Amino acid sequence: MSESTLEQLCKIYTELNTEDINILKKVESTLNIYADLSNANMYIDCKMNENDHAIVVAEAFPSTSDSVYEKSVVGKFVFESFEPGVFYSYRGGKKSLISQAVTQDGRIVEQSVVPIKNGSHQIIGVLIQEKEMSQQSLVRSEQQKYSFGQETLGTMLGDDMGKIPIISSLLMETLLLTDNKNNLIYANPVGVKFITEMSQTDEIQHKNLVELLPFLKQVYDSKEDVFVFDMTLDRKNLVIKKVRLRNKEQHGETLLIIQDITELRTKEKELMMKSYLIQEVHHRVKNNLQTVASLLRLQMRKGSPEESKAYFEDTLNRIYSISSVYELILANEDADDDDVNIIELTRKVCSTLVLNELHKNISLIIQSNGNRILTSSRKAVSIALIINELVQNSLKHAFPEDILGEIIVEFHSNKDFLELHIFDNGVGMKKPRTSLGLEIVHNLVVNDLNGEFQYLPEDVGTHAVIAFPVSPEVVIYYEKENIDS
Ligand SMILES: Nc1ncnc2c1ncn2[C@@H]1O[C@H](COP(=O)(O)OP(=O)(O)O)[C@@H](O)[C@H]1O
Ligand SMILES: [Mg+2]
Repeated sequence: MSESTLEQLCKIYTELNTEDINILKKVESTLNIYADLSNANMYIDCKMNENDHAIVVAEAFPSTSDSVYEKSVVGKFVFESFEPGVFYSYRGGKKSLISQAVTQDGRIVEQSVVPIKNGSHQIIGVLIQEKEMSQQSLVRSEQQKYSFGQETLGTMLGDDMGKIPIISSLLMETLLLTDNKNNLIYANPVGVKFITEMSQTDEIQHKNLVELLPFLKQVYDSKEDVFVFDMTLDRKNLVIKKVRLRNKEQHGETLLIIQDITELRTKEKELMMKSYLIQEVHHRVKNNLQTVASLLRLQMRKGSPEESKAYFEDTLNRIYSISSVYELILANEDADDDDVNIIELTRKVCSTLVLNELHKNISLIIQSNGNRILTSSRKAVSIALIINELVQNSLKHAFPEDILGEIIVEFHSNKDFLELHIFDNGVGMKKPRTSLGLEIVHNLVVNDLNGEFQYLPEDVGTHAVIAFPVSPEVVIYYEKENIDS
């Protein structure tokens, strides 16, 4: 009688008391029903008192199965290294599920283990359910040697598509394994598709891979054990990695990892084309601005009254500041990047203004304070125009007599805000009177940069400040250097 067997085994090999054993007996009485219900083998294992192993104290097999495999294991010892799930559940008091466990007698099963507890929540045994992995044993025995951890690599070839390890179907790379005669012994799902597509045949199992795909000949012919090939085939770009798995000094299997990078290459070409076009557009904008400037200069020289010349000049300077932005973008080595370095832009805009003969006594200092500020070309146009107006005002209005003067352009920043200060040590602004120049500055700061524009009171000269928030379009980096001019 199996009931007494359980009782006997428990008394001999375990520390369980009568109460615990009665609980196990109750569980045992239901084993047959669960075996039938789940069509799986059921076992109860208990921890032994004298060593770290466990012992099978009860079992049940489904009555429907052809009990070919089913030889009784009651009374057998169970070792941790063979059945880790049993011990995991014992120790942690948790359920363990191993989808492809290899049992002590070498069968591959899906094994679930739950702890059995007594009234005081002590674990007195574990209940095990083992389902045979049907019709795979043949394919498997061949492939077990390539197992990665719990998972067995393989089973894709032939009709066994239902049991593909998840990881293999997620892989975008083709994985192919061939034996020492280059015959295919494993391909992941992408690999099967790859070979059938490239070779135009469905008969690939155990076929010679070089005959199926002649372009792989050079890969196999090369002497190296590990090698990466770049290959272009009918508009397909492939990267092929080859690894020879040697065993005992002789040729073993070869693993190929093939990546199709056609799409990547096409995208790269498209991007190159796009950045070329953008670059071309920048060129045209710059050239058109130059044409507009030359037309204005022509108009200014011929057929305009003397009083209007100052206005032409203001307008020309505005156009030059816009075109400085495009010159900087075009000078940028990184063609994709149309970000503009604001410090460089400031230098460019100012240098065209101060180089003028009229301002030979005025020096201009640009202080970046270690900031490297990059903005989108759109914001850069606004900033160029603002700097042009304010520096121009200092040059024009601050130093009415030909005295020594100084203009300082300074950048300050914290992580949220960027401030641009423009000082001069000139006569100062008498009563603020806004005309077109300051109106342009105000509009650009408020509408385009979402910032603020104001004059701060100073004993000498003027001090204009614009402040605007850092944003994805305005990025600040800190550099070591502190002062440049
Ligand atoms: N840095 C400065 N120093 C002295 N006066 C200034 C300065 N900036 C601006 N102003 C005064 O503010 C006025 C308005 O400037 P703006 O709107 O740029 O017009 P515009 O430069 O065409 O005269 C100027 O005419 C000038 O009187
Ligand atoms: Mg002005």
